[in-house]
Amino acid sequence: MYILGIESSCDETAASVVKDGRFMMSNAVASQIPVQRLYGGVVPEIASRMHVENICPVVNEALDNAGLKLDDIDAIAVTYAPGLIGALLVGVNFAKGLAYASGKPLVPVHHIRGHIAAVYLTEHELEPPFIALAASGGHSHFILVEDYTKFRVLGRAVDDAAGEAFDKVARALGLPYPGGPEISKIAANGDPIKYQLPDPRPDNPLDVSFSGLKTAVVNLINTDRMKAVETDKASLAAAFEERATDMLAERLAEACGEFGLPGVLCGGVAANSRLREKADVMCSEKGKKLFVVDRKLCGDNGAMIAAAGYYEYLSGRRAGLDLNAYPTRDISEG
Ligand code: KG4
Ligand code: ZN
Repeated sequence: MYILGIESSCDETAASVVKDGRFMMSNAVASQIPVQRLYGGVVPEIASRMHVENICPVVNEALDNAGLKLDDIDAIAVTYAPGLIGALLVGVNFAKGLAYASGKPLVPVHHIRGHIAAVYLTEHELEPPFIALAASGGHSHFILVEDYTKFRVLGRAVDDAAGEAFDKVARALGLPYPGGPEISKIAANGDPIKYQLPDPRPDNPLDVSFSGLKTAVVNLINTDRMKAVETDKASLAAAFEERATDMLAERLAEACGEFGLPGVLCGGVAANSRLREKADVMCSEKGKKLFVVDRKLCGDNGAMIAAAGYYEYLSGRRAGLDLNAYPTRDISEG
């Protein structure tokens, strides 16, 4: 069964065809990063307009690269929540038009369910249950994946999401958007123990908090500036990266140990090498295996939406032509 997946929740216009939820036939992505970088982050209005320009060519590219015609597709899956509302609406409306014109079923997909399903595209034998850490620019969730379409949030970032914290810290250090890869780049030449950063521990042991960490970095930079001292940016980036990745990896391993399940690392922040290494070590210390999404599929893409859409389709999920988009929606609601 071929599913066409369409994603436009943030700054990537993406489409892909996936066979049987597991095999990626194509993966077309039009990234807005070079434009959004000029503004230091995603400007929602610009994101929406660029999706409008890119969506047709991107969907055509996904079909062409898969060697398929719209007629060969069995269902159209689209991200409908959560995300930037104007951006989501472009994908949703496009998918509705396509479903209407072709008579194909329309399947709504929750963006974080998509990030989790990205793991099925390389781990072809992996099945739920497992514990997923979905860490992106908008969310950091520790999720019990009970089944392909059944999810329970065990913990979350109580303030800033992990990727958001990377982006804000990068900005404070004068680095371009998106901050995650930039922080890693300069952290490689830093001394991670030169600066002491806080280790916030919210009441729920599976929650994380990044806002105090981010503020501590900003305060250190400001204090240095007032004293006319040059901040060692590489070491500060390294201290932040170590603390942030420790917090995420520890909680994931903790949850895997508690539930006796393997772990899955997904979402944009899962591209971080230190996080991948630490989560692997910490999960194996608990006697649990870790599965990590392929680096190329950690960021937003259409393949993850098609993979999740396949399982939603099998569960009977369908949307009518009145499908709407939602800026926030819990993963357990669908
Ligand atoms: O999943 P994603 O592409 O979009 C959202 O759904 O938000 O995630 C983007 C986020 C950005 O905040 C970016 O800085 C972060 O993922 N990111 C990273 C790395 N690569 C991307 N964070 C840390 N380390 C990285 N290597
Ligand atoms: Zn995402």
